[in-house]
Amino acid sequence: MPDSVILVSVKDRNFDDVTREMISLVENLGAEVVLTVTIRPELVNQATYLGKGKLEEVLRLLGEFQVNTLVISDNISPVQKRELETQLKVRVLDRTEVILEIFATRALTKEAQLQVEMARLRYMLPRLTRMWSHLSRQKGGIGMRGAGEQQLETDRRVLKKRISKLREDLEKVRQDRDVQRKRRHKSDMPIVALVGYTNAGKSSLFNSFHGKSVLAKDQLFATLDTITKKVVRPEGTFYLVDTVGFITNLPHFLVESFKATLEEVLLSDLLIHVIDISHPYYQKQILSVQSVLEELGIADKPMIEVFNKCDLLSTLPEGVGESALMISVKTGQNLDKLTQNIINKI
Ligand code: GTP
Repeated sequence: MPDSVILVSVKDRNFDDVTREMISLVENLGAEVVLTVTIRPELVNQATYLGKGKLEEVLRLLGEFQVNTLVISDNISPVQKRELETQLKVRVLDRTEVILEIFATRALTKEAQLQVEMARLRYMLPRLTRMWSHLSRQKGGIGMRGAGEQQLETDRRVLKKRISKLREDLEKVRQDRDVQRKRRHKSDMPIVALVGYTNAGKSSLFNSFHGKSVLAKDQLFATLDTITKKVVRPEGTFYLVDTVGFITNLPHFLVESFKATLEEVLLSDLLIHVIDISHPYYQKQILSVQSVLEELGIADKPMIEVFNKCDLLSTLPEGVGESALMISVKTGQNLDKLTQNIINKI
Protein backbone atom coordinates (compact mmCIF):
# COMPACT_ATOMS: atom_id res chain seq x y z
CA MET A 1 0.00 0.00 0.00
CA PRO A 2 1.35 3.47 -0.88
CA ASP A 3 1.73 6.33 1.63
CA SER A 4 -0.96 8.50 0.18
CA VAL A 5 -4.05 8.06 -1.93
CA ILE A 6 -6.82 10.15 -3.44
CA LEU A 7 -10.30 8.93 -2.57
CA VAL A 8 -13.34 9.11 -4.83
CA SER A 9 -16.68 8.98 -3.04
CA VAL A 10 -20.24 9.18 -4.32
CA LYS A 11 -22.17 12.16 -2.96
CA ASP A 12 -25.37 10.36 -2.02
CA ARG A 13 -27.17 10.18 1.31
CA ASN A 14 -24.64 7.70 2.70
CA PHE A 15 -21.72 9.93 1.75
CA ASP A 16 -20.54 10.89 5.26
CA ASP A 17 -20.81 7.37 6.57
CA VAL A 18 -19.16 5.66 3.63
CA THR A 19 -16.40 8.26 3.28
CA ARG A 20 -15.51 8.24 6.94
CA GLU A 21 -15.37 4.45 6.97
CA MET A 22 -13.22 4.34 3.83
CA ILE A 23 -10.79 6.89 5.27
CA SER A 24 -10.38 4.76 8.37
CA LEU A 25 -9.92 1.60 6.28
CA VAL A 26 -7.17 3.32 4.27
CA GLU A 27 -5.55 4.62 7.47
CA ASN A 28 -5.59 1.11 8.84
CA LEU A 29 -3.36 0.16 5.95
CA GLY A 30 -0.91 2.85 7.01
CA ALA A 31 -1.80 5.22 4.16
CA GLU A 32 -3.27 8.70 4.17
CA VAL A 33 -6.18 10.08 2.14
CA VAL A 34 -4.79 13.42 0.91
CA LEU A 35 -7.96 14.47 -0.82
CA THR A 36 -11.54 13.28 -1.31
CA VAL A 37 -13.09 13.90 -4.71
CA THR A 38 -16.87 13.65 -4.81
CA ILE A 39 -19.02 12.50 -7.69
CA ARG A 40 -22.76 12.82 -8.10
CA PRO A 41 -24.52 9.42 -8.26
CA GLU A 42 -26.30 10.23 -11.51
CA LEU A 43 -22.95 10.93 -13.16
CA VAL A 44 -21.39 7.54 -12.44
CA ASN A 45 -20.39 6.19 -15.81
CA GLN A 46 -21.13 2.52 -16.63
CA ALA A 47 -17.95 2.08 -18.63
CA THR A 48 -15.40 4.36 -17.02
CA TYR A 49 -16.97 5.06 -13.60
CA LEU A 50 -15.81 8.69 -13.76
CA GLY A 51 -17.26 10.86 -16.51
CA LYS A 52 -14.96 12.76 -18.89
CA GLY A 53 -14.78 15.96 -16.84
CA LYS A 54 -14.14 14.11 -13.56
CA LEU A 55 -11.49 11.96 -15.17
CA GLU A 56 -9.62 15.08 -16.24
CA GLU A 57 -9.98 16.62 -12.80
CA VAL A 58 -8.71 13.45 -11.06
CA LEU A 59 -5.82 13.12 -13.52
CA ARG A 60 -4.76 16.67 -12.75
CA LEU A 61 -5.06 16.16 -8.97
CA LEU A 62 -3.08 12.92 -9.05
CA GLY A 63 -0.24 14.82 -10.72
CA GLU A 64 -0.54 17.82 -8.44
CA PHE A 65 -0.42 15.73 -5.24
CA GLN A 66 2.06 13.23 -6.73
CA VAL A 67 -0.17 10.33 -5.79
CA ASN A 68 -0.15 7.04 -7.67
CA THR A 69 -3.11 5.25 -6.13
CA LEU A 70 -6.78 6.04 -6.46
CA VAL A 71 -9.24 4.48 -4.01
CA ILE A 72 -12.93 4.24 -4.84
CA SER A 73 -15.23 3.96 -1.83
CA ASP A 74 -17.65 1.93 -3.96
CA ASN A 75 -17.22 -1.47 -5.59
CA ILE A 76 -16.53 -1.03 -9.27
CA SER A 77 -16.82 -3.45 -12.16
CA PRO A 78 -13.79 -5.07 -13.77
CA VAL A 79 -14.42 -2.96 -16.91
CA GLN A 80 -14.51 0.26 -14.91
CA LYS A 81 -11.32 -0.66 -13.09
CA ARG A 82 -9.48 -1.44 -16.30
CA GLU A 83 -10.67 1.80 -17.95
CA LEU A 84 -9.67 3.90 -14.95
CA GLU A 85 -6.23 2.30 -14.70
CA THR A 86 -5.63 2.69 -18.43
CA GLN A 87 -6.69 6.31 -18.55
CA LEU A 88 -5.22 7.52 -15.27
CA LYS A 89 -2.10 5.31 -15.32
CA VAL A 90 -2.28 4.72 -11.57
CA ARG A 91 -3.33 1.79 -9.41
CA VAL A 92 -7.06 1.77 -8.68
CA LEU A 93 -8.45 -0.06 -5.64
CA ASP A 94 -12.14 -0.45 -4.90
CA ARG A 95 -13.75 -1.09 -1.52
CA THR A 96 -13.47 -4.87 -1.63
CA GLU A 97 -9.81 -4.71 -2.61
CA VAL A 98 -9.03 -2.38 0.30
CA ILE A 99 -10.80 -4.79 2.69
CA LEU A 100 -8.87 -7.69 1.16
CA GLU A 101 -5.59 -5.81 1.68
CA ILE A 102 -6.48 -5.33 5.34
CA PHE A 103 -7.46 -8.97 5.74
CA ALA A 104 -4.12 -9.94 4.20
CA THR A 105 -2.15 -7.92 6.74
CA ARG A 106 -4.21 -9.16 9.70
CA ALA A 107 -4.34 -12.89 9.05
CA LEU A 108 -2.26 -14.55 11.74
CA THR A 109 -2.93 -18.25 11.59
CA LYS A 110 -2.28 -20.55 8.68
CA GLU A 111 -6.00 -21.00 8.14
CA ALA A 112 -6.76 -17.27 8.00
CA GLN A 113 -3.84 -16.72 5.62
CA LEU A 114 -5.08 -19.45 3.31
CA GLN A 115 -8.60 -18.05 3.41
CA VAL A 116 -7.43 -14.54 2.59
CA GLU A 117 -5.32 -15.72 -0.32
CA MET A 118 -8.22 -17.76 -1.62
CA ALA A 119 -10.57 -14.77 -1.36
CA ARG A 120 -8.10 -12.54 -3.19
CA LEU A 121 -7.63 -15.00 -6.03
CA ARG A 122 -11.34 -15.56 -6.36
CA TYR A 123 -11.84 -11.81 -6.61
CA MET A 124 -9.08 -11.54 -9.21
CA LEU A 125 -10.20 -14.38 -11.44
CA PRO A 126 -13.12 -12.67 -13.25
CA ARG A 127 -11.22 -9.41 -13.29
CA LEU A 128 -8.31 -11.02 -15.04
CA THR A 129 -10.51 -11.89 -18.01
CA ARG A 130 -11.42 -8.38 -18.83
CA MET A 131 -8.19 -6.79 -17.71
CA TRP A 132 -6.44 -8.48 -20.59
CA SER A 133 -9.20 -8.26 -23.17
CA HIS A 134 -8.11 -4.86 -24.49
CA LEU A 135 -4.70 -6.35 -25.23
CA SER A 136 -6.15 -9.27 -27.14
CA ARG A 137 -8.24 -6.89 -29.23
CA GLN A 138 -5.22 -4.78 -30.10
CA LYS A 139 -2.87 -7.59 -30.98
CA GLY A 140 -5.17 -10.22 -32.39
CA GLY A 141 -5.18 -10.12 -36.18
CA ILE A 142 -7.02 -12.46 -38.58
CA GLY A 143 -6.12 -16.06 -37.89
CA MET A 144 -3.85 -15.02 -35.06
CA ARG A 145 -4.42 -15.40 -31.39
CA GLY A 146 -3.56 -12.26 -29.48
CA ALA A 147 -0.63 -12.31 -27.11
CA GLY A 148 -2.93 -10.88 -24.49
CA GLU A 149 -5.38 -13.71 -24.95
CA GLN A 150 -2.70 -16.37 -24.60
CA GLN A 151 -1.31 -14.60 -21.58
CA LEU A 152 -4.81 -14.47 -20.14
CA GLU A 153 -5.30 -18.20 -20.51
CA THR A 154 -1.95 -18.94 -18.90
CA ASP A 155 -2.71 -16.62 -16.00
CA ARG A 156 -6.17 -18.09 -15.55
CA ARG A 157 -4.75 -21.61 -15.49
CA VAL A 158 -2.12 -20.63 -12.92
CA LEU A 159 -4.75 -18.96 -10.74
CA LYS A 160 -7.14 -21.91 -10.93
CA LYS A 161 -4.37 -24.35 -10.05
CA ARG A 162 -3.37 -22.24 -7.08
CA ILE A 163 -7.01 -22.01 -5.94
CA SER A 164 -7.46 -25.77 -6.00
CA LYS A 165 -4.19 -26.26 -4.10
CA LEU A 166 -5.40 -23.75 -1.51
CA ARG A 167 -8.68 -25.61 -1.23
CA GLU A 168 -6.80 -28.83 -0.42
CA ASP A 169 -4.58 -27.10 2.14
CA LEU A 170 -7.59 -25.50 3.77
CA GLU A 171 -9.33 -28.84 3.97
CA LYS A 172 -6.35 -30.28 5.85
CA VAL A 173 -6.22 -27.38 8.32
CA ARG A 174 -9.94 -27.75 8.77
CA GLN A 175 -9.75 -31.41 9.63
CA ASP A 176 -7.31 -30.56 12.42
CA ARG A 177 -9.69 -27.93 13.73
CA ASP A 178 -12.54 -30.41 13.56
CA VAL A 179 -10.66 -32.71 15.88
CA GLN A 180 -10.15 -29.87 18.35
CA ARG A 181 -13.76 -28.77 18.07
CA LYS A 182 -15.09 -32.29 18.58
CA ARG A 183 -13.01 -32.50 21.72
CA ARG A 184 -14.67 -29.32 22.97
CA HIS A 185 -18.10 -30.58 22.06
CA LYS A 186 -17.53 -33.90 23.74
CA SER A 187 -17.13 -32.02 26.98
CA ASP A 188 -20.67 -30.69 26.48
CA MET A 189 -19.64 -27.27 27.67
CA PRO A 190 -21.70 -24.38 26.26
CA ILE A 191 -20.04 -22.19 23.64
CA VAL A 192 -20.50 -18.42 23.86
CA ALA A 193 -19.41 -16.35 20.86
CA LEU A 194 -18.56 -12.66 20.76
CA VAL A 195 -19.78 -10.95 17.62
CA GLY A 196 -19.89 -7.29 16.71
CA TYR A 197 -18.85 -4.55 14.40
CA THR A 198 -15.14 -4.12 13.94
CA ASN A 199 -13.49 -2.08 16.74
CA ALA A 200 -16.47 -2.51 19.11
CA GLY A 201 -14.24 -4.00 21.81
CA LYS A 202 -14.70 -7.76 21.40
CA SER A 203 -11.03 -8.64 21.89
CA SER A 204 -10.82 -6.32 24.89
CA LEU A 205 -13.84 -8.03 26.41
CA PHE A 206 -12.35 -11.44 25.60
CA ASN A 207 -9.11 -10.38 27.34
CA SER A 208 -11.04 -9.18 30.37
CA PHE A 209 -12.11 -12.79 30.89
CA HIS A 210 -8.66 -14.22 30.44
CA GLY A 211 -5.91 -11.71 30.94
CA LYS A 212 -4.06 -10.37 27.92
CA SER A 213 -3.91 -12.91 25.17
CA VAL A 214 -5.65 -11.54 22.08
CA LEU A 215 -4.65 -8.43 20.15
CA ALA A 216 -6.73 -5.42 21.16
CA LYS A 217 -5.74 -2.48 19.03
CA ASP A 218 -7.55 0.55 17.82
CA GLN A 219 -7.50 -0.93 14.38
CA LEU A 220 -10.22 -2.30 12.20
CA PHE A 221 -10.19 -6.08 11.91
CA ALA A 222 -7.44 -6.51 14.50
CA THR A 223 -8.71 -10.07 14.87
CA LEU A 224 -9.09 -12.22 11.80
CA ASP A 225 -8.98 -15.56 13.44
CA THR A 226 -11.42 -17.22 15.72
CA ILE A 227 -9.88 -17.72 19.12
CA THR A 228 -11.47 -19.92 21.77
CA LYS A 229 -10.75 -20.11 25.47
CA LYS A 230 -12.31 -21.80 28.46
CA VAL A 231 -13.84 -19.49 31.08
CA VAL A 232 -14.16 -20.96 34.53
CA ARG A 233 -16.26 -19.13 37.12
CA PRO A 234 -17.63 -20.43 40.42
CA GLU A 235 -21.16 -20.11 38.93
CA GLY A 236 -20.41 -21.99 35.73
CA THR A 237 -17.98 -22.80 32.96
CA PHE A 238 -18.19 -22.10 29.22
CA TYR A 239 -16.10 -21.70 26.11
CA LEU A 240 -15.74 -18.13 24.90
CA VAL A 241 -15.02 -17.45 21.23
CA ASP A 242 -13.64 -14.18 19.82
CA THR A 243 -14.31 -13.54 16.13
CA VAL A 244 -13.53 -11.40 13.13
CA GLY A 245 -15.11 -7.94 13.29
CA PHE A 246 -18.01 -7.33 10.98
CA ILE A 247 -18.37 -4.34 8.70
CA THR A 248 -21.07 -2.66 6.61
CA ASN A 249 -21.81 -4.50 3.38
CA LEU A 250 -19.10 -7.03 3.89
CA PRO A 251 -18.84 -8.45 0.38
CA HIS A 252 -20.81 -11.66 0.19
CA PHE A 253 -17.93 -13.80 -1.03
CA LEU A 254 -15.83 -12.63 1.91
CA VAL A 255 -18.49 -13.84 4.32
CA GLU A 256 -18.34 -17.12 2.40
CA SER A 257 -14.55 -17.26 2.65
CA PHE A 258 -14.62 -16.72 6.37
CA LYS A 259 -17.40 -19.15 7.12
CA ALA A 260 -14.83 -21.75 8.09
CA THR A 261 -13.25 -19.36 10.55
CA LEU A 262 -16.69 -18.51 11.82
CA GLU A 263 -17.65 -22.14 12.30
CA GLU A 264 -17.27 -21.85 16.05
CA VAL A 265 -19.84 -19.09 15.93
CA LEU A 266 -22.19 -21.21 13.86
CA LEU A 267 -22.00 -23.92 16.50
CA SER A 268 -22.26 -21.64 19.51
CA ASP A 269 -25.10 -21.77 22.02
CA LEU A 270 -25.21 -18.06 22.77
CA LEU A 271 -24.07 -14.90 20.97
CA ILE A 272 -22.85 -11.78 22.73
CA HIS A 273 -23.32 -8.84 20.39
CA VAL A 274 -20.80 -6.19 21.45
CA ILE A 275 -21.86 -2.68 20.39
CA ASP A 276 -19.70 0.44 20.57
CA ILE A 277 -22.30 2.79 22.04
CA SER A 278 -19.92 5.77 21.76
CA HIS A 279 -19.83 5.46 17.97
CA PRO A 280 -21.98 8.05 16.16
CA TYR A 281 -23.29 5.36 13.79
CA TYR A 282 -23.77 2.59 16.33
CA GLN A 283 -27.34 1.95 15.15
CA LYS A 284 -26.20 1.33 11.59
CA GLN A 285 -23.46 -0.91 12.91
CA ILE A 286 -26.06 -2.99 14.78
CA LEU A 287 -27.99 -3.45 11.53
CA SER A 288 -24.81 -4.44 9.65
CA VAL A 289 -23.99 -7.09 12.22
CA GLN A 290 -27.54 -8.40 12.08
CA SER A 291 -27.40 -8.72 8.32
CA VAL A 292 -24.10 -10.66 8.46
CA LEU A 293 -25.66 -12.94 11.10
CA GLU A 294 -28.60 -13.46 8.76
CA GLU A 295 -26.26 -14.27 5.94
CA LEU A 296 -24.59 -16.84 8.16
CA GLY A 297 -28.02 -18.24 9.01
CA ILE A 298 -27.69 -17.64 12.76
CA ALA A 299 -29.77 -14.51 13.31
CA ASP A 300 -32.22 -16.40 15.52
CA LYS A 301 -29.66 -17.79 17.97
CA PRO A 302 -30.07 -16.67 21.61
CA MET A 303 -28.24 -13.37 21.97
CA ILE A 304 -27.28 -10.81 24.60
CA GLU A 305 -26.71 -7.26 23.37
CA VAL A 306 -24.08 -5.36 25.32
CA PHE A 307 -23.36 -1.69 24.90
CA ASN A 308 -19.65 -1.19 25.41
CA LYS A 309 -17.49 1.94 25.93
CA CYS A 310 -20.15 3.57 28.12
CA ASP A 311 -17.28 5.32 29.92
CA LEU A 312 -17.14 7.64 26.90
CA LEU A 313 -20.76 8.77 27.31
CA SER A 314 -22.21 11.44 29.53
CA THR A 315 -25.84 10.71 28.64
CA LEU A 316 -27.67 7.70 27.26
CA PRO A 317 -28.09 8.06 23.46
CA GLU A 318 -31.60 8.13 22.02
CA GLY A 319 -33.09 4.74 21.29
CA VAL A 320 -31.29 2.93 24.11
CA GLY A 321 -33.67 1.64 26.77
CA GLU A 322 -33.07 1.80 30.52
CA SER A 323 -32.80 -1.99 30.61
CA ALA A 324 -29.91 -2.09 28.13
CA LEU A 325 -26.77 -3.71 29.46
CA MET A 326 -24.22 -0.89 29.47
CA ILE A 327 -20.66 -2.02 30.07
CA SER A 328 -17.17 -0.62 29.93
CA VAL A 329 -14.34 -3.04 29.45
CA LYS A 330 -12.01 -0.16 30.24
CA THR A 331 -13.40 0.62 33.70
CA GLY A 332 -14.85 -2.81 34.38
CA GLN A 333 -18.37 -1.42 34.77
CA ASN A 334 -21.07 -4.14 34.75
CA LEU A 335 -18.72 -6.91 33.63
CA ASP A 336 -19.88 -9.05 36.55
CA LYS A 337 -23.45 -8.47 35.51
CA LEU A 338 -22.61 -9.61 31.99
CA THR A 339 -21.02 -12.82 33.28
CA GLN A 340 -24.09 -13.43 35.41
CA ASN A 341 -26.37 -12.87 32.40
CA ILE A 342 -24.32 -15.32 30.34
CA ILE A 343 -24.48 -17.98 33.03
CA ASN A 344 -28.23 -17.48 33.45
CA LYS A 345 -28.76 -18.01 29.72
CA ILE A 346 -26.63 -21.10 29.14
P1 GTP B 1 -11.81 -6.11 15.66
O1 GTP B 1 -10.76 -7.13 15.96
O2 GTP B 1 -11.40 -5.12 14.63
O3 GTP B 1 -13.12 -6.70 15.35
O4 GTP B 1 -11.98 -5.18 16.99
P2 GTP B 1 -12.59 -5.57 18.39
O5 GTP B 1 -14.07 -5.48 18.38
O6 GTP B 1 -11.99 -6.82 18.88
O7 GTP B 1 -12.09 -4.31 19.27
P3 GTP B 1 -10.85 -4.21 20.28
O8 GTP B 1 -11.08 -5.01 21.50
O9 GTP B 1 -9.60 -4.42 19.51
O10 GTP B 1 -11.00 -2.69 20.75
C1 GTP B 1 -10.95 -1.60 19.85
C2 GTP B 1 -10.52 -0.34 20.57
O11 GTP B 1 -11.52 0.06 21.52
C3 GTP B 1 -9.23 -0.50 21.38
O12 GTP B 1 -8.48 0.68 21.24
C4 GTP B 1 -9.71 -0.66 22.82
O13 GTP B 1 -8.76 -0.22 23.75
C5 GTP B 1 -10.94 0.24 22.81
N1 GTP B 1 -11.91 -0.15 23.84
C6 GTP B 1 -12.42 -1.38 24.07
N2 GTP B 1 -13.30 -1.35 25.11
C7 GTP B 1 -13.36 -0.06 25.53
C8 GTP B 1 -14.11 0.62 26.57
O14 GTP B 1 -14.90 0.06 27.32
N3 GTP B 1 -13.93 1.97 26.66
C9 GTP B 1 -13.08 2.65 25.86
N4 GTP B 1 -12.95 3.96 26.05
N5 GTP B 1 -12.35 2.04 24.89
C10 GTP B 1 -12.49 0.71 24.73
